[in-house]
Amino acid sequence: MKKLEQLYEGKAKKVFATDDPSIVMVDYKDDATAFNGLKKGTIEGKGVINNRMTNFLMKMLEKNGVPTHFVEEISDRETLVKRVTIVPLEVIVRNVAAGSLSKRLGLPEGTPLRRTVLEYCYKNDELGDPMVNEYHIAAMGWADDATMKQIAAYALKVNDLLVRYFRPLNIDLIDFKLEFGHTADGTLVLADEISPDTCRFWDSKTHEKLDKDRFRRDLGGVEEAYQEISHRLMGE
Ligand code: TMP
Ligand code: ASP
Repeated sequence: MKKLEQLYEGKAKKVFATDDPSIVMVDYKDDATAFNGLKKGTIEGKGVINNRMTNFLMKMLEKNGVPTHFVEEISDRETLVKRVTIVPLEVIVRNVAAGSLSKRLGLPEGTPLRRTVLEYCYKNDELGDPMVNEYHIAAMGWADDATMKQIAAYALKVNDLLVRYFRPLNIDLIDFKLEFGHTADGTLVLADEISPDTCRFWDSKTHEKLDKDRFRRDLGGVEEAYQEISHRLMGE
């Protein structure tokens, strides 16, 4: 398949058209940003790790009944995915309090939650991705009720599958962010990425952070953390 013109450049990825109108090519960059783009940097090798790890996990999820946009890995940084219309929501799944939830509710990071928490944020950089609820989503027409029911069910299923997958690798999945989209025929699929950029991973024994919080919070050892996760998950 031919890589054609660039359609879009995001903070961590570029998207290109291909000669098949139903398929686009994602190209993962080493660029890292945080706090809605205020903090900028580079995480050497991140694009390769996030590409391979996302594809590895999407294939695992697909096998277990979660439809995804994944089509084919083309190179270290490039992957073909189904063209989708993105539901303009960040779907956040939390097992343990951390990050913005800890701030908002005054909970020490690491406080266990009695049940899994789902949150939605409206994807809008100018507004700083504000948190919204299902009433806002319906009122604004961002997704209908049936879509939201399906999104919630998929998000919880992805959580179960990922938690179980990471547990024997001594990695606690604290929280993560998902995005969903509709293909041309209206099928809802999991899109975007699943990587240390979009998940919080803590070592089960030492509770060491093995994700982008090392970059966000200037903790050092950023590249090493991405490599450690990649190594535990895929042996590379
Ligand atoms: P938060 O605690 O900052 O709300 O983040 C929750 C999870 O979502 C965490 O695993 C990081 C991920 N995340 C993204 O993938 N993109 C974002 O823009 C933000 C703010 C968080
Ligand atoms: N990627 C997001 C940004 O640049 C936020 C984050 O991951 O913390 O703003």
